[in-house]
Amino acid sequence: MTDNLRIHHHPVVNFNHGKQISIRFNGRPVPAYEGETIAAALYASGIRIFSRSMKYHRPRGLYCLSGHCSQCLMRVNGEPNVRVCQTIVKENMVIESQNAWPSLQFDIAAIAGKLDFLIRPGFYYRYLIKPRWLYHIWERFLRNAAGIGKIADNSKPPSPVKRIQASPQVLVIGGGIAGMSAALNAVRSGAEVWLVEKEGKLGGRLQYDTREFELPEKGSKKYAFEYVVEMANKLANYTCFHLLTNTTAFGWYEEDVIAATGPGKFWEFEPQCTIIATGSYETPPVFENNDLPGIFLSTGIQRLMHRDGVLPGKQTVVISSSNEGYVIAKQLYEAGISVLGIAESRSGQSSNACPEKDFILSKNIPVFHSHKIKSAIGKKQVKGVVLESLPDPANSNPGTETKIACDTICISGSRAPANDLLFQHGCGGTYIINCPDHFIRKPEVNNYMSVSDGLYAAGEAGGSNNIKQSFIEGKIAGLSATKYLGIGDRLTDEKLNIAVEQLQR
Ligand code: FES
Repeated sequence: MTDNLRIHHHPVVNFNHGKQISIRFNGRPVPAYEGETIAAALYASGIRIFSRSMKYHRPRGLYCLSGHCSQCLMRVNGEPNVRVCQTIVKENMVIESQNAWPSLQFDIAAIAGKLDFLIRPGFYYRYLIKPRWLYHIWERFLRNAAGIGKIADNSKPPSPVKRIQASPQVLVIGGGIAGMSAALNAVRSGAEVWLVEKEGKLGGRLQYDTREFELPEKGSKKYAFEYVVEMANKLANYTCFHLLTNTTAFGWYEEDVIAATGPGKFWEFEPQCTIIATGSYETPPVFENNDLPGIFLSTGIQRLMHRDGVLPGKQTVVISSSNEGYVIAKQLYEAGISVLGIAESRSGQSSNACPEKDFILSKNIPVFHSHKIKSAIGKKQVKGVVLESLPDPANSNPGTETKIACDTICISGSRAPANDLLFQHGCGGTYIINCPDHFIRKPEVNNYMSVSDGLYAAGEAGGSNNIKQSFIEGKIAGLSATKYLGIGDRLTDEKLNIAVEQLQR
């Protein structure tokens, strides 16, 4: 049941919307609930364009809701370039759009999109230095056009950042299911573990995933978000566990120093063991109009629906290249959205069965096998989608187009490991074909998740594409780290071998 786009009743998630408050967006009051993000409040109140692109001023809307893109940058309480999908509302907060005049909806600079023949790729604004006498006129115009956002109103210098050095026994980078599983297995052996997580809570994207599954040793099925809450609670009971949230490990420097930055702090870690469990990024396909407001990454949609309690739209088409497409389609359906179809690049024969696919078929939702998205239709927001059939033995007419009217497109593309730190450190890797026209680089790890002495990679950062696999890999990495440190108990080897066997099954 939904009231406009707010979800009030959901079959799986209980929403406890906080107290109603008011924020101001471009001078007008917007209702919001305490505890939700600015993005959720604005989206629920009907805002679809959140920013304009830098060069052609194309409209941009919410996309990843994970802090990975720049589509939701706004000025918040005078501070420019704040990601509103990551910022919680506060009473009387003042939010302003940037980079658009007179408004986000109607931006005069969008004319640049019509004059693209004048400013082709490779065009540099320094071409305008001639004739010399015109330059000062251009300069004023260019100064206004360049950059995004206006400098902060508050001229107070920021408070100094505290520099802290730490040498934990085990440093886990990434607090998703693999990172939590690694940390749990290491702390159980008595290791002193520090976990660095870039978001405010442990769990990664599974915090917002309502799929049900059974993990080894757990004995019964649970929702993904229940598992991560349970594991986070267990970790909190260990005094040798130290959690740094809202902290990003961004560099691995000479002399084995890992640098991380969090609120007011700059960390320099020199751990004895490091476990990289940084997860993965969604890598969407490229198609015409792929930046239109109304196009979302599947994890963005999960965050909007299950974190913020807001629907992305009323009618959606899912674009997919794996079973993940069926998972998100089921979740959209359960939240109350009409799923008008799933276009998946795999053929009917190569698409393997999964419970979510059975669910979708039982609801008579059309599945377009061997189809890709050709373009999104719409000017300021999605009005429809054009699908194109791919060559396939079962399809005598490749290139056939199908148009579907919809207000949202959910992209459930393939994923690429977020393993930049590993390669910064110089670890070996191989390129593998993830799905047609998509390569990923996988680090070379042995059966014990070891990349080199004292360095481990677990979960999607190492190339896993399955929740159970990530959980087991985390367990192996945590146990291997304690073994390397020489603090495992007599059962460590036995547990390790069982976990390695489970992984190979
Ligand atoms: S960073 Fe906010 S939508 Fe991507």
